[in-house]
Amino acid sequence: MKNIAVLASGRGSNLEAIIESIENGTLQADLACVISDNQDARALQIARDHGFKALWLDPGPKKTWLLPEFEENYVKTLQEHNVDLVCLAGFMRIIKTPLLEAFMGRILNIHPALLPSFPGLDVQRKALEYGVKFSGCTVHFVTGDVDAGPIVTQAVVPVLDDDTPETLAARILKEEHRTYPEAINIIVSGDYRIEGRRVIRT
Ligand code: GRF
Repeated sequence: MKNIAVLASGRGSNLEAIIESIENGTLQADLACVISDNQDARALQIARDHGFKALWLDPGPKKTWLLPEFEENYVKTLQEHNVDLVCLAGFMRIIKTPLLEAFMGRILNIHPALLPSFPGLDVQRKALEYGVKFSGCTVHFVTGDVDAGPIVTQAVVPVLDDDTPETLAARILKEEHRTYPEAINIIVSGDYRIEGRRVIRT
């Protein structure tokens, strides 16, 4: 596994961290393409600015997922670019059968909470309101259940008394940028095995 693709819908700061790690040689992977469902995604511009292929693919009429014929076009494009590993980085669509089947065990996602706590959206606010003292981020394999696949890596940050969702999100994001390239490196190197839900480095 060497060729990766990043799917992103927005800001693209995780994409930026991945690109930086590729450019400085700490992440040994090739970025075959960046794909977005959002024509205006900053992520597409970041990819272009660094000389990587940036593609907008029509997401179709649904807001939070892709109808099969649209998702099949994502699959076709990933296959045309010989992608081994798909990295979701703020891709705001639930992944369904066409992509899951074509890339079984080869899709990663980053989530801004310590799963299995706080799956879903707006999770920094939820963590703060719940009163947890630590939060963080999780890189996990994508399965048919949202935010529930085997965990590759996690990083922990403290929740401070004067945090707002924004300050907590910023602290977590810093860890995301460190953690995601590391997790991708583990998977592209192939130096891991999965036992049940456990991803174990070999
Ligand atoms: C990150 O917080 C990530 O964990 C979540 O969406 C956000 C994407 O941010 N899945 P960015 O587009 O990478 O800046």
